[in-house]
Amino acid sequence: MAKSIQMNELTLGVCYYPEHWPEELWEDDFRRMREMNISVIRMAEFAWAMLEPEEGRFDFRFFRRVMDLAHQYGLKVILGTPTATPPAWLTHKYPEVLNANVEGVLYRHGMRRHYNYSSPKYRELCARIVRNMVEAYKEHPSVIGWQIDNELNCETNEFYSEADHIAFRAWLQERYGSLNNLNHAWGTVFWSQTYTDWEQVYLTRPMVNHSPNPHLALDEKRFISANTFSFAKIQADIIRELSPQHWVTTNGTFGHLDNHELTDELLDFFSYDSYPQFSTIFPSSDENPLGDRAWSMNLSNVRSMSPNFCIMEQQAGPGGWVDRIEMGSPRPGQIRLWSYQSVLHGTDLLVYFRWRTATFGTEIYWHGINDYHNRPNRRVREVAQVGEEFAKIGSFIAGTAYQAEVAIMQDYDNVWDGELDKWHGPLQRQSVRSWYKQLQYQHIPTDLITLGTKTKLEALLQYKVIVYPHPAIMTDETATLMTQYVEHGGKLVFGARTGYKDTYGQCYMQPFPGPVAGLCGITVEDFTLIKGTIGASELHWEGSRLPSGTKAVGFNEVLSVESPDVEVVAAYATEYYKGQPALTRRAVGQGKVWYYGAAFSEPVVDALIDEMELTSPAADWLDAPAEVEVGIRSANGSSFLFVLNYSGEQVTLTLKKSTVDLLTGAELDGTIEMPAYGVMVMKILTP
Ligand code: GAL
Repeated sequence: MAKSIQMNELTLGVCYYPEHWPEELWEDDFRRMREMNISVIRMAEFAWAMLEPEEGRFDFRFFRRVMDLAHQYGLKVILGTPTATPPAWLTHKYPEVLNANVEGVLYRHGMRRHYNYSSPKYRELCARIVRNMVEAYKEHPSVIGWQIDNELNCETNEFYSEADHIAFRAWLQERYGSLNNLNHAWGTVFWSQTYTDWEQVYLTRPMVNHSPNPHLALDEKRFISANTFSFAKIQADIIRELSPQHWVTTNGTFGHLDNHELTDELLDFFSYDSYPQFSTIFPSSDENPLGDRAWSMNLSNVRSMSPNFCIMEQQAGPGGWVDRIEMGSPRPGQIRLWSYQSVLHGTDLLVYFRWRTATFGTEIYWHGINDYHNRPNRRVREVAQVGEEFAKIGSFIAGTAYQAEVAIMQDYDNVWDGELDKWHGPLQRQSVRSWYKQLQYQHIPTDLITLGTKTKLEALLQYKVIVYPHPAIMTDETATLMTQYVEHGGKLVFGARTGYKDTYGQCYMQPFPGPVAGLCGITVEDFTLIKGTIGASELHWEGSRLPSGTKAVGFNEVLSVESPDVEVVAAYATEYYKGQPALTRRAVGQGKVWYYGAAFSEPVVDALIDEMELTSPAADWLDAPAEVEVGIRSANGSSFLFVLNYSGEQVTLTLKKSTVDLLTGAELDGTIEMPAYGVMVMKILTP
């Protein structure tokens, strides 16, 4: 069951680090926050050395003073547990708590997240600081909730300390029962990797060519996820035991962690840290990149854990570390635009990072709302505007949820297996990007969902279309669920490399696509990676809007029709498999299934959008150019249409029905000019 934050109105907060500032500043800071309609602060998540300056000596006075003052100003407080930054005394005395790189070299004090989750000593010391901290602050009237640690698996999501190797062995013993089973699951007879004693088993260590056993590599990621979960659970259990009146969350979506399970089992809702500018600072091979708008895909993933969630850190200025991460300044309007990007996708509590830029440390260029000098600047004015607007629209919007009829589906096993496996991982990244992008440009709201062992048919049936691009690992249970989805009326799309691996990442001795060959009514007769000797074949797709010369990228599978009711939609037009089927369609029950033997490129996605007769749910309300994102939040018969202009140019919208911009109160009808980086929120009627 999806778990959402419960807010009565859209609420603004800010990350505050009182330990970075002279105490004389606090009061002025809090007064100005209230003037900007900021009513929540998040703090203490890195303050272990202040809360426990020496082993076993706790001092909670400093933050109590801050909280007393915050309370006077009507500010609510989210407290972070400080376990992402063990103090120097701790790692010096107990070096076994440190994480190590794959060579076994320990990460030392001086940065953050340099610990491992496995060391019994670290778990004990974390449990103790958390227990003492919760005891100390649980009655404080300002506290509303707790954040566990900070960004689990950020900075690194690999763990190779001694304690981790030991914990991995224990996890494997539990999972496989015997070494014999483990040897089978990992196919260790290959290259004489057979284990004869558990002590011989390790997480990845330095290997020739850095090539670990692929089945071990998959289990390593599953182990890291389970281990991170059990580390977080210690804290969640303590907070729930001592402070049941408060909510529990954690922030960030980082690798090798099943955040869905974490949310379902441990949290009240998920929180995310949104820095859209990250998607603009790395070179992209895309001709038509989504840029900062690509961040909507990350937010869509967060929504699949919590339809309404908290943004624990929202970008409030250019980001920068002293030695890495260089960003230009957000242009005027972009901080506000990105705030509404988060709101559109489901945030009801939006906390900016951070109140004021730090004057010391690694993050002196990670800009907060305020500059070092503390005078009003344009970022302060922009956030104040968001504050004013939240006061106007916040009570209507809170609790409404993003609406989508299309879902792109993924699952952790395939994502993790695909990190190492070059024969399907890259296809997944290419295809998910193409689908999300083209659906965005055509204003078709899309969810990004994660299939898990607990996913029920009902959850899938809320979507008209599910794209499950390259599920290489496919169990019989998943195949059954997919078949039921189609039989009940769903439209399902698969791409190349579907269904050829089992749950250990071993290949089935069956024609592809293995467990869903029957559903799709095809098998793969021949196939090639697009590399070296073979260039991607062109596609022939009669009656589609595919530009001539469009290629089937990434991988080409030559399909063989096995069932008389299969229709060949498109064929390969060049290469030695010219004329053979590339894309098929089959009606099954009340639904349809498509199988495409390649990775999805943008033109192919556009043609498939037509083929599946997908249209924008906003089409009755407006015509908008591709530069804007269009989405709808609804609940209980109220619907709100968000239009976000990511471009630096004014754009023209044509409204087909008159309505009101709730942010300005302006009547909207006919042709509307929307400014660069503009935002509009309109109340609309939906069927
Ligand atoms: C986040 C982190 C914050 C801060 C911010 C800017 O990942 O949670 O503590 O470091 O990035 O770098």
